[in-house]
Amino acid sequence: MNLSIALLKGDGIGPEIVDSAVQVLQKVAEKYGHTFRFSEYLLGGIAIDETGVPLPQETLDGCLAADSVLLGAVGGPKWDNLPADIRPEKGLLGIRKAMGLYTNLRPAKLYPSLIGKCLLHPDTVKNGFDLLIVRELTGGIYFGERGRRNGPLGPEAYDTEAYSVMEIERIARVAMSAAQKRSGRVVSVDKANVLETSRLWREVVHRIAEEYEGVTVEDMLVDNAAQQLVRNPSQFDVMVTTNMFGDILSDEASQITGSIGMLPSASLGDGTRGLYEPIHGSAPKYAGTGRCNPIATILSAGMMLRYSFSLQQEADCIDAAIDKALRDGCRTNDIAGPGQEVLSCSEMTQAILERI
Ligand code: IPM
Ligand code: MG
Repeated sequence: MNLSIALLKGDGIGPEIVDSAVQVLQKVAEKYGHTFRFSEYLLGGIAIDETGVPLPQETLDGCLAADSVLLGAVGGPKWDNLPADIRPEKGLLGIRKAMGLYTNLRPAKLYPSLIGKCLLHPDTVKNGFDLLIVRELTGGIYFGERGRRNGPLGPEAYDTEAYSVMEIERIARVAMSAAQKRSGRVVSVDKANVLETSRLWREVVHRIAEEYEGVTVEDMLVDNAAQQLVRNPSQFDVMVTTNMFGDILSDEASQITGSIGMLPSASLGDGTRGLYEPIHGSAPKYAGTGRCNPIATILSAGMMLRYSFSLQQEADCIDAAIDKALRDGCRTNDIAGPGQEVLSCSEMTQAILERI
């Protein structure tokens, strides 16, 4: 196959981890006889510095013209005090929305070789876990009306959570069909004891579930879900939830896999073009130190092969190379145990390349 991939390296450790993933993609292309063409565009803080806005039109056009998009991370202290409209994060939210990427898949699994790095008691994770968070990505409080006004108690700020039936239906369908290919168990996370959006969410999710044979849905309140995730993560298979609850629960899930440096994500819409990025941020304090973990970004590149290009064997090959590197004891700083040799980002990349 001959495919074009837009690269949005972003800020902080972004350029370093994207370069790692590109090397892995190139190696896979060589091995399986594909051609991947890469073009770079600006997003986030670097785009603000060079063009004055976090999401330049040229970036959006480039992404929409490419077959898929690989993103590093955006943001950093340098841009923290800018007005809300030109913050790096605004670029990230803007591109998700403009590309129509309403689904965010965040798989979290515990590699047997990292059980020692999991913060939970060994008994709690003796069976491992492998769950998929299906996060709604272009609706909810992230995109609702917000502002400042004068309230009864004086000046106040507000953000609004709104979900349409259509938005809930389409994310529910994604979760149900994902579950059909897995164990058939979906946990839908909401706050229906308080929020009206959650009550609508429940109604719609259950109605959609009926269209999917072999799928069962259990509702769970978000506070309980946060607790259950650390009490017994293996009870979960597919979790479907709103934009904000998914943001929070996926960070929690990452910590019990050993490190946030291990979690990839795929953002998808109705077509095959997606945006793939690690769930972690730009880690400004590690930028340029070589001390970051490229695995989440490399796994994200693997998800691109799987979901955008239907290259299953190639994606399996990346997953297997990472698994093998971990089993062989290769560790970056964040996942190293006491006494283990610490590899730099480029050494870890090399270790994975050798195992492709
Ligand atoms: C994520 C991030 C973003 C989000 C931020 C940077 C806007 O936390 O991808 O999880 O909240 O979606
Ligand atoms: Mg987040």
